[in-house]
Amino acid sequence: MNDIAIPMGTVTFHDHQPEALSLLDTVVEGLSRQPRAIPPKFFYDARGSELFERICAQPEYYPPTVESRLLTDIADEVASLTGTGRVLIEPGAGSATKVRLLLDALRPSAFVPMDISFEFLKQSAIALAAEYPWLPVHATCIDFTHSMPIPDEAPDGPRLVFFPGSSLGNFTPEEAADFLRMSHDTLGHGGMLLIGVDTKKPAHILNAAYNDAAGVTAEFNRNLLHRMRRELDTDIDPDAFDHHAFYNADQGRIEMHLVSRKAQRVRVDGHGFELAAGESLHTENSYKYAPQEFIAMAASAGFAPVRHWLADDDLFGVYLLATA
Ligand code: AVJ
Repeated sequence: MNDIAIPMGTVTFHDHQPEALSLLDTVVEGLSRQPRAIPPKFFYDARGSELFERICAQPEYYPPTVESRLLTDIADEVASLTGTGRVLIEPGAGSATKVRLLLDALRPSAFVPMDISFEFLKQSAIALAAEYPWLPVHATCIDFTHSMPIPDEAPDGPRLVFFPGSSLGNFTPEEAADFLRMSHDTLGHGGMLLIGVDTKKPAHILNAAYNDAAGVTAEFNRNLLHRMRRELDTDIDPDAFDHHAFYNADQGRIEMHLVSRKAQRVRVDGHGFELAAGESLHTENSYKYAPQEFIAMAASAGFAPVRHWLADDDLFGVYLLATA
């Protein structure tokens, strides 16, 4: 398990080495499969995490702006429902930008940011601890889709999982229900979940959000191929693929693909793959949920709805739920 705690003022680090879940195995398996697919968690190397931050600054990508404004507006109301002094856990914390909107109101006893990207997590944990000297930070580098271990030095007391950004949308509905059940287990008795989930809405709004004019989302998508070149023995050419993102209304999800511009043979560590022109590599799903759909799914995982808030003509939802 390799659990190393490095005390640094009020920051501790726990490295569960999620990168060991080999990119190579996933890529070879994903390219061998039909349809070909690589899961989106592999977007987030240091460069991918940076590109995602840039996506969040694009005008078409509305979720961060809308959700942040909503969180700012409801922070005090949330705190009145959760109380202060909880252990606050954020899976996939990234730069931990949104949690800053809540910290003064929620006054948690400790913050446990979890992220798959160690360098990124380290920098954001140190920056956060410097900004909030009263807040013990216990950073945990882990693939939270498998487990959510809470560090031993985290205080006892009621817990709150914060899962903003519609990160839930990357899971299939079945995986999302599993994640909610895992969160329910981590939270235990008296636990609460504050989660931001993107809503279903007209396709043109969604299509624009994943096809920003500056091309940052395209670059983010293609970074997966650049990452393969950095980390694997492969001749794959990132410029031989087009970014393709669209709303699949039947499935209620945005799909992102990398589409082969031509018939080509791709070599990865001794394996060869023949791609036809126009053949796609499915890199991401981003599911959207109507409020009642999400509440029903959370209920099936054992959560009772406490309150929810919708922003700007139902563009985005934030939900507070309690372990039943
Ligand atoms: C981080 C999964 C919420 O699905 O909207 C943004 C990732 N991909 N643009 C999303 C993403 C392309 C994002 N999530």
